[in-house]
Amino acid sequence: MNAIVFGSLNMDLVARAPRLPTPGETLIGNSFETIPGGKGANQAVAIARLKIPVEMVGRVGSDLFGQQLLDGLKSDRVGCDRVLIDDDIHSGVAIITVDAASENEIIVIPGANGRVGKPDLSRLQTLLPQAKVLLLQLEIPLDAVTEAAQLAKQAGVSVILDPAPARSDLPAHLFSAIAIITPNQVEASQLVGFSVHDQASAHQAANVLHDRGVKTVIIKLGSAGAFCSTETESFLIPAFSVNAIDTVAAGDAFNGGLAAGLVAGLSLKQSITQASAVAALSVTKPGAQPSLPTREALTQFLKEHSITL
Ligand code: ATP
Ligand code: RIB
Repeated sequence: MNAIVFGSLNMDLVARAPRLPTPGETLIGNSFETIPGGKGANQAVAIARLKIPVEMVGRVGSDLFGQQLLDGLKSDRVGCDRVLIDDDIHSGVAIITVDAASENEIIVIPGANGRVGKPDLSRLQTLLPQAKVLLLQLEIPLDAVTEAAQLAKQAGVSVILDPAPARSDLPAHLFSAIAIITPNQVEASQLVGFSVHDQASAHQAANVLHDRGVKTVIIKLGSAGAFCSTETESFLIPAFSVNAIDTVAAGDAFNGGLAAGLVAGLSLKQSITQASAVAALSVTKPGAQPSLPTREALTQFLKEHSITL
């Protein structure tokens, strides 16, 4: 059994500067890099680096960025046969500014990701019989995300939705098709309509999301860890203490580690511990996909923390 990611691929255009510019201001920055990213592709790479088979379904443009994104995924052994090269539009890009304190601002231009729809759902459907989990995010059209979740549920595949970037208009029939939802604090606040900023407010938000039909809610609380609530229990898995230098893709690393654990047959708690370790390792390195750890790096990290999964 494997994992499928139905979602976005972006080339990240990353500028580093001493601080983030204010509106109307021009700043001289320190460096510029193009780095493979996109929430969907990041999650796929995180899973593949943990040596769990994973297939990506989505779109890139027929441009240099698209080719580089596909080459990167293939070198990480992500199955790319169902990533379409769309001749009519550019690949997705994310304009990212990172300051000296590792704060970031991101603008995503969807490009080919914005055209994911019916033909992509048909390609997804052919993979569902072999899959254990389907990972979704919100950088492709919401209708496609909703339909993918419903198809997966009908096929008996567990759906993990990362409701990122944040929005407040998810339809009821999406919630009812999701097994696990994994918002961060901003996304959880948007979904429930009140501020989610600590364990107590995360608990309240989880109850709202349970009422909408989601059985397992995991709220990512940054360096405060991850709060999980199921039908029978709730608990906090604290974050690992690391030297964080760049949190871009921490949430994607977390979801990749979570899904890889579930596919490998770990318990939910063990999978969240693995997710936290993968995310912690990712924040110690700059960029999206280059920051995602290998299985060997994860094993070493867990050993150093005396954790056996
Ligand atoms: P992203 O920056 O990719 O948008 P996110 O906002 O979706 O990430 P966060 O809540 O910031 O998600 O982080 C996800 C997980 O990463 C956390 O639950 C935690 O386990 C881990 N994490 C984040 N920041 C740190 C940190 N400074 N030190 C250790 N672990 C961290
Ligand atoms: O979650 C991080 C990702 O968000 C980046 O790689 C960027 O592409 C944006 O989509």
